[in-house]
Amino acid sequence: MLPPDVCEDYIIEAVRARMILDSRGNPTVEAEIVTRGGGFGRAAAPAGASKGIHEAVELRDGGREFKGKGVKRAVYNVNYIIAPRLIGLDSRMQRLIDNVMVRLDGTPNKSRLGANAIVSVSLAVAKAAAATADLPLYMYLGGASGTYLLPVPLMNIINGGAHAGNELAIQEFMIAPVNSDTFHEALRMASEIYHELKSYLKEKYGTIAINVGDEGGFAPPMKETREALDALVEAIRRAGWQPGEDVYLGIDAAASHFYDEERKVYKLDGKELSSEELIDYYVELVNEYPIASIEDPFYEEDFDSHAKLTTKIGKRVLVVGDDLYVTNIERLHRGISVGATNTALLKVNQIGTLTEAFDYAFLAYRNAMKVIVSHRSGETEDTTIAHIAVALRTGLIKTGAPARSERVAKYNELIRIEEELAGSAIYAGKYAYSSLHEILGFYH
Ligand code: PGA
Ligand code: ZN
Repeated sequence: MLPPDVCEDYIIEAVRARMILDSRGNPTVEAEIVTRGGGFGRAAAPAGASKGIHEAVELRDGGREFKGKGVKRAVYNVNYIIAPRLIGLDSRMQRLIDNVMVRLDGTPNKSRLGANAIVSVSLAVAKAAAATADLPLYMYLGGASGTYLLPVPLMNIINGGAHAGNELAIQEFMIAPVNSDTFHEALRMASEIYHELKSYLKEKYGTIAINVGDEGGFAPPMKETREALDALVEAIRRAGWQPGEDVYLGIDAAASHFYDEERKVYKLDGKELSSEELIDYYVELVNEYPIASIEDPFYEEDFDSHAKLTTKIGKRVLVVGDDLYVTNIERLHRGISVGATNTALLKVNQIGTLTEAFDYAFLAYRNAMKVIVSHRSGETEDTTIAHIAVALRTGLIKTGAPARSERVAKYNELIRIEEELAGSAIYAGKYAYSSLHEILGFYH
């Protein structure tokens, strides 16, 4: 897309990067862009712990510093390889700029310059252009007309898998407060449930249970999936809400992490299950609990089992591909061709540029799929994903518990956006009473 007019103000004047720390205390890349008109954009790359094997590559230095996790080379790549190519370009030409970086990298998985280098610049470019136009990012990306949707937060309040030191195989147990007129009220519901959960866990498992995992959810010494789901239901009730009416549940199995590839079994809840048995298990859970969303139910190469599950429960549950798709259009095409899921998770750093992430979202929409914008388990104070969720009108965001600053930074930004839109935005949950999938389907 060409800019509507040639305006000197949007020309990129400076590009720079530095190392900062993420929420796990690991280094990450922060990039800044300045335009000639004084527009300033800053963005930081997040980092996953339970990454998909097909994700774009984070460049890490290796060696002794930061136990090999340093990002000096990625920072160098921004400052000395990317910067000279972007200075002088119009910051509104996001697709062109992202293409320049993709070509400069030249690898299929961004392993030369590093997806951490590229994504921080890609996001900072959009923010600098928005600032130059004096628009909030969501409006710059999402257009000034049309109704905005404030997303339903899928909040991970019990952590397991790669994000916690307990024995829960399933990685995330989430709540989705839907019965509210506004986003900020939904956040109040979530906060109250979170604190009821804390009291419940303390009563049942002792103070050890209120330690938190990487995404701010509690990491209690539980062993089985149903224990965690029961705890969520109890906490919702104690907070005065009706599970399955006011608040739904969601899980992210991140099943690649409990799949034994050699023996072709999934190890969870003290059992070894074949993929057929695991399908039956998910169907049982969906019948027993008000589960509205199941992410990565099978390991990341098994499109067929995903499709079988979607055929069985896809009319009432969001079946979500994260590690399955890694925000990659080719993998999403493959998923669409077999009907693998009805929902696509979107993490910009899995693919590396905003342009590719938007293309992925629109491909999902064109195929009647939902999109959930998501954080990573390693985050920063960066709030860009809140704007992306609003701009794309996903109606869904996943950004951790209503606790820990790197998580609540995104929720707090959504509060500000809601306030700024002063009644002209709709809280997506309002339309989600019978099932998130069914009702949100109305929008796309
Ligand atoms: P990650 O996990 O950020 O550690 O990869 C998040 C998720 O699986 O959704
Ligand atoms: Zn996931």
